[in-house]
Amino acid sequence: MRKKTLNDLAARAGDLIVVRVDFNVPVRNGRVADDTRIERTLPTLRRLTATGARLVLLSHLGRPGGRPHPEASLRPVAARLGELLGEHVRFSPETTGPEAVARARTLAPGEILVAENTRFLAGETRNHPELAAAFAALGTHFVNDAFGTVHRAHASTAGLALAMRARGGDAVAGLLLEREIRFLGDALEDPGRPFVAVLGGAKVSDKIAVIEKMLARADRLLVGGAMANTFFRALGLETGRSLVDEEGVDLAARLMDGAGDRMMLPVDCVVASRIAPDAATREAPRAEVGADDRIGDIGGASRRMFGDELQQARTIVWNGPMGVCEMPPFAGGTVAVARSAAAATATGAVSIAGGGDSAAAVRAAGLADDFSHVSTGGGASLAFLAGKPLPGLEALSDA
Ligand code: 3PG
Repeated sequence: MRKKTLNDLAARAGDLIVVRVDFNVPVRNGRVADDTRIERTLPTLRRLTATGARLVLLSHLGRPGGRPHPEASLRPVAARLGELLGEHVRFSPETTGPEAVARARTLAPGEILVAENTRFLAGETRNHPELAAAFAALGTHFVNDAFGTVHRAHASTAGLALAMRARGGDAVAGLLLEREIRFLGDALEDPGRPFVAVLGGAKVSDKIAVIEKMLARADRLLVGGAMANTFFRALGLETGRSLVDEEGVDLAARLMDGAGDRMMLPVDCVVASRIAPDAATREAPRAEVGADDRIGDIGGASRRMFGDELQQARTIVWNGPMGVCEMPPFAGGTVAVARSAAAATATGAVSIAGGGDSAAAVRAAGLADDFSHVSTGGGASLAFLAGKPLPGLEALSDA
């Protein structure tokens, strides 16, 4: 880590610290439906409050487009944070400005204030310097623990870090951000071998940079999910009425040519006439998919083949489900990969699940604790794996 971390923070007891978290969590009927991202910031928050710091938390929620939107309020999120901490957490309906600053100043040592959604403000996603300065005015130092948003150059991420440094404060990485960067960074820079990457999801063209990066670094690349259909098409196979990324077919052919036997595609599929929770399914070798079929998952032979590869792996990076895993008839391939990766972890492999859907699938299978690391970042972990810039990290103080 070439950036300052909590260990380097020059804060004194009673200091006001602005903490950017990624509390972009699902909220249904005014309740947080999945609090993983909130829970994962607790070590940072507890460590700071234990030193007597006073915390102002900033986060976005959803994409309200620079205007207040009651359904995207962070109020229920603040309430959930309070439940998890077992302490009252205060809420500020203002995100910046005199009222927000005044509320922050009334905090007692160890108290936490959650400010309203940063994306209610027009300058946030445009990284407006005035807004970044207004965020920085909420405290004397900045801690970024929002790994999920580290690929965004927004006013409350990169802008705030630079604005806080310009005021003479520190801008450091929180424990969650540090851990994410360490696991993903080690996997890319110095992986134990064999290094097996597993990629799924829908579009080849969306993940091209990740595929290329993985082909350059990994010993094996296992491809599943709807993305595999595009490779099947490039092989001249029938894909029936399955989802195919038409624009990605030529690209898929080129990638396969360059990859040789390092890339493995499913050899069979779970197919149905429709993708629905009550669909009747059957398994078919990939060369026997019918013109009316829809491919919804990888088949049993593919699960065993991928499982054998994962069993031998010393490093596993997984991004994207193997099928339509939110529907039980098509969830088996994703669960099988999760189990194989968990089993490999038990025998010493380092396993990382990144990306919103694969991380959710690992949790749904009850296997989150059996992975070395389950990333809280969807787009952020993809950006990291693709080697793209991470403005939220780059703007932090150098170690
Ligand atoms: C995420 O959920 O991936 C992050 O919170 C970033 O959200 P965004 O894609 O709306 O910027």
